Formats: sequence, C-alpha cells, structure tokens
Amino acid sequence: MTRKLIVTSALPYANGPIHIGHLVEYLQTDIWVRFQKAMGHECYYFCADDTHGTPVMIRAKSEGISPEELIERVHAEHFRDFTNFEIAFDNYYSTHSEENRQFSEMIYTRAAQVGSIFQKEIEQAYDEQEKMWLPDRYIKGTCPRCKAPDQYGDSCDGCGAHYQTTELLDAVSTVSGNPPVLKKSTHYFFRLSVYQTKLKSLFAKGYVQESVQNKLYEWFETGLKDWDISRDGPYFGFKIPGEKDKYFYVWLDAPIGYMASCKNWCDKNGRDFEQMWNSGDYEICHFIGKDIMYFHALFWPALLFSANMRTPDKLFVHGFLTVNGQKMSKSKGTFIMASTYLKHLDPQYLRYYYASKLAGDVGDIDLSIEDFVNRVNSDLVGKLANLASRSGPMLTKKLAGMLGTLDAKGKALVGELVTAKAEIIEAYECLNYAAAIRRIAALADVCNKYVEEQQPWSTIKTDAEGTRTTLTAVLNAVKILGIYLKPVLPEFAAKIEQFLAVDALTFADVDTVLENRKINDYIRLIERIEKEKVEAMIEESKQETSQESIQPEPENMLDEPLAEECTIDDFMKVDLRVAKVLHASAVEGADKLLALELDLGNLKKNVFAGIAKAYKPEDLVGRLVVCVANLKPRKMKFGLSEGMVCASGPGGAEVFLLGLDSGAKPGQRIH
Ligand code: 2FM
Ligand code: ZN
Repeated sequence: MTRKLIVTSALPYANGPIHIGHLVEYLQTDIWVRFQKAMGHECYYFCADDTHGTPVMIRAKSEGISPEELIERVHAEHFRDFTNFEIAFDNYYSTHSEENRQFSEMIYTRAAQVGSIFQKEIEQAYDEQEKMWLPDRYIKGTCPRCKAPDQYGDSCDGCGAHYQTTELLDAVSTVSGNPPVLKKSTHYFFRLSVYQTKLKSLFAKGYVQESVQNKLYEWFETGLKDWDISRDGPYFGFKIPGEKDKYFYVWLDAPIGYMASCKNWCDKNGRDFEQMWNSGDYEICHFIGKDIMYFHALFWPALLFSANMRTPDKLFVHGFLTVNGQKMSKSKGTFIMASTYLKHLDPQYLRYYYASKLAGDVGDIDLSIEDFVNRVNSDLVGKLANLASRSGPMLTKKLAGMLGTLDAKGKALVGELVTAKAEIIEAYECLNYAAAIRRIAALADVCNKYVEEQQPWSTIKTDAEGTRTTLTAVLNAVKILGIYLKPVLPEFAAKIEQFLAVDALTFADVDTVLENRKINDYIRLIERIEKEKVEAMIEESKQETSQESIQPEPENMLDEPLAEECTIDDFMKVDLRVAKVLHASAVEGADKLLALELDLGNLKKNVFAGIAKAYKPEDLVGRLVVCVANLKPRKMKFGLSEGMVCASGPGGAEVFLLGLDSGAKPGQRIH
C-alpha cells in the first residue's frame, strides 16, 4: 500500500550557520524521507528558516543591516549547506512569509475565539538606552549563589543554579552594558492547561516515543503553565492583530512555519493545501531535538487543538551530538561548521557515520574522530566500495562489459542479500539506521568472502565464462547493497546505477536480477578519508571567528520539577559506603548499563549502573566508588540490582563517578 507522508525537520534559526550538530537531525530526516521515497511512497520533506525574534534583530543591528537582509542572506547560506550535504527538501521556505502570517493570525484568532487567550500584566527587564525588552540571555551578571561573574540571566554555568533575572547581582544588559530596569507591560497568554486531556489522548495514540512520553507525564504532574505568546516592540516578527506594538513570540509562529512551507509548495505545484494538511490523508511527522520537546509535544498540538486543526501523527525526538565524548568546543576545533567540513571532506562520510550511530532513540550520539576515520575507511571504502571496484572494472575491461547469468552459487549469494530486505526495511522505518548499516556491512562481508573464494582475478586467465558468472553474482550483490544504502548515500547509489546502466533503483528492484546485459564503464564510488584532511578541518575550525547562533530560549524545557520535600532525617537514612569494584562487564541488550560487582568490606553487592557510555568496564576494576548500600534491591530486566553507585553529570559520556581518597576502605561509611 502506498503511504502518503509529510515530513519536517525543526526550522533552523536564522542568525547563525549550520554546524555538524544541526546536521544530525537533517540527515536523520533526509535518510528517512529518501527511504520512504525509495519504498515507492508519496513523501514530502518541508522545512524553512526560523526567522523571527530578538537574536535576529540584534544580529542584524550589529551587522548594520535590516533583519530582512540578514534572513535573506542566511536563508541562502543554509540552503547551500543543506544541498551540499545532499539534504533534499521538497520545499525550503521562511517563517517570514505571507503564508505564515496568515496562518499565525488565523490560529491565534481561533484560539482567542474559544477563550484560550488571555491578557496579564507582567514585569520584565528593559534596556532604557536601547529601548528594548531583554530576554534572559541578554542579561549577564554575578551568580547569586556561587558568585561566579559573567553569568546569564537565568542560570549559572559555574554551579548550575537556576534563578530569576532579578536575583542576578550587578546585572547588565549585554546590548548596551547598562543595568536593566524592571518595567511592567501587558502580555498575551495561551491557556495550555485546558488542553491537558486532549494532549493525553494524543500521546495515547503514540505521538511520541516511550521515553519521551515519560518526560511529558512528569510535566503533566507538575502542571502545565500558561504560555506567554506575545512580545512588545521593538521586535522582529508578526504584529498581533488589533495591536500597535505587540508581536507574536517567535515560538508561536515557528511551528506554524511547517504549514506555511507546505502551503507555499502546494501553491507552486497546483496542489490543495487543505487536502494535504488537514484531511488526514497524509501522515504528518516531525523530527526534532530533545531540547525543543516542550514546544512540539505540548504547545504545538495544543495550539492546533485550539484552532480546531488536525494534529500531527508522529514526533521523532533525537539526542544531541558530542564529539570525542564531549560537547562541541570551539577551542578544541570540534565546533565544525557545515561549510568548513565541506571544504575538506566528502559529505558522504558524515552521512554514513551518523547513520551508523543513529538508533532512533533520544540518546546522544558521539562523533569520535578516530572511529569516524576508521569506520569510513574500513567499512564504506574497504568493504562496500571495494566489492564494486574488484568486479566492475574486470567485467568491462576483460569481458566486454557483458553480464552473464547466475549459477547456483550466485543465486545463493544473491538470495542471502534478498532475504535481508525485510529486516533492513524495518530498521529504516523505525529509525534504527545503525542496525541497517550493521546488517549491510555484514552482507558486504559475505560478498567479499565469496569473491575471495571464487578468485576471479585468477580464473580470468583460464575461464572467461566462469569468471563472467562470478562477476555477475557480485555485481547483482552490488546492486542490492546500493539499494540498501541509497537512503544514506544517494550519490554512491547513483554511481552504481550509472555504471550498471539501470534506471533509478528502488526497494522493489531488490528482487529483480541483472543478467545478459551490458554495463557501463566503472566509476569510482568513493575515496578513502585522509587523516590529514580531518586534521586540517579541525585546525580551521579552531580559527573560525563566526559567532555561534543564539537561539531564543526554549522556556520551561529544561526545568526539572523539584522532587517532593525531604527532611534531614530522610536524608540521613541513606547509607553511603565506600565500595571497591571487583568486576565490571557490559550488559547485553542495555548499551547504557554496566554490571558491577562491589566489595563493601564484609559484604558483596551486584549493582547495575548507567555509566556504560562514560566508562570502560576494564578501567573500573579496582576503583573505589560511593555506593548507596541500603537501597532496597530492585528487580531489573537484566537481574537484581542491590544498590546504586553515585555519579553525576548530564548523562551519556558525561557521567562522572564520585571521587574518593585512595586511602578509603571498602565498607567505610561516608557522612
Ligand atoms: O531550536 C531551534 O533551532 C528552533 N529554531 C526550532 C524551531 S522548530 C519549529 F518550531 F519551527
Ligand atoms: Zn553559580
């Protein structure tokens, strides 16, 4: 059955360049869209630049140009970078468009008509010199808790404290350098809380992945806060109907930009927007990063409910990118712009590498530079491209480029590749590209083994027809592997199509065999990565001066609700002991967990710890850790966990076990 799909990626903010962190999402989406198209489905990929808000306004001012000029230039840069990474949008539009203005006004008006908009006076920081309101990110000062200087208006990088801007000491506006004043003004709010039941029913229909759903339910428990959807001028955005100097907050019109992009495409292609977006004929799927879940899981569908419009079907949330296990860093040269990457390396390397890491969950993915080079060279070049380069040229040069027929062995080889089709399709469909790539690489191993056994380079001297039969099998295998890789590596697949002299391949072509036909001259599919080029890219990234883009803050998103109050007596119940790691091992089926055997003096405990991304088992043996020794044993899927080791950090590779004095004794209590 042919499916109909509308797919979007989050709209990149228009005040800065695309970097390799952004690319995780656009590549994840592009691969999925290409996969759907290669399955013969009707699928459209819509995106746009997210153009409104204070950061764009300030950036334009600092460059001495208008916001319109800035967003036009950035739009062209973004589109160029995406295109060079072979990210193929069906439409790449802008939120600063007439379609978006009309939809924003319509949705707002409908929300107001059903009583979901109200006004309230609030107090906010204001820069008197610049005559502008200041979002938290534009106020800096000394942290009220740890006294670290130069901290943002909402949180401290030093101690992690979250506070109100008014609590910041010696606060100044980063725009003028003057202390901000507090001023009152009336804002418009959206009543999010009234949509709780409808949102719950949307989640029950499977709108989000399970791990995301748990986070959303936590938010429900703390209660949904009403949402401030207006900003006072000066502001770059759409005016609120009936108001002189009040604008829609950028985050109101940003997701509406998905629709605007679709509408613009419909108008250009003679299609009916209502039928595409609102009739339910098309599945609507959004891809986003975990930092903007609140907007897409709560505000966006709630707004659509208020306007009586169709809500999307799927929200696919991915994690962040780390490089060499750490946040991207300018000083380390790992904050790499898409355009810098492209000056040094083939985009296909990154497409392949990200695909090999993306598993469809919200976990962060790590780009380890060494692993990147090795994996591309050993798998993509060494296994996959090699198969074509050791068979294609021989057939064209020595056997007039004519394919023969498959013998029994050839049929068995091709049959094995065909059998993997369902599994590979399933892996792509559920965004587990890592599983698809593993399977494809394993199939390439099988094929290379077949070549080793058949030794065509040797048989060609004595048995031309036998060799033709061998090469026919190998080239049919290359065709199938090309189809399997096509969503990830469109250029690689196109070269295969070209030299095999076939039309654009789809998954349906896996089941057909190429026999007794002529192929074209072989084209090299891909080159090895040279380490020096990677080093040059990192060096250039260290020198890069381009400012990192400042996104309008996703309000609320990272607010972890406070847990229920506990007394000092409650806290004293926790018995922390020094423990020595006797044994550590990976847990099959749980890539974040390590199984630890701990020595607590006269007691041994088995504990599962979520530290596998941060520590290698062999590095832990003999190490002293802090164990919550009186934690009630918990039955987990993998066994009984009889305690907990103490660690902190944001997660993934950034989890740090609490340090201990080397003289500490296993079993000793820590107070
Ligand atoms: O986080 C961001 O970069 C936003 N510009 C994403 C907007 S997505 C959608 F809502 F437009
Ligand atoms: Zn602090």
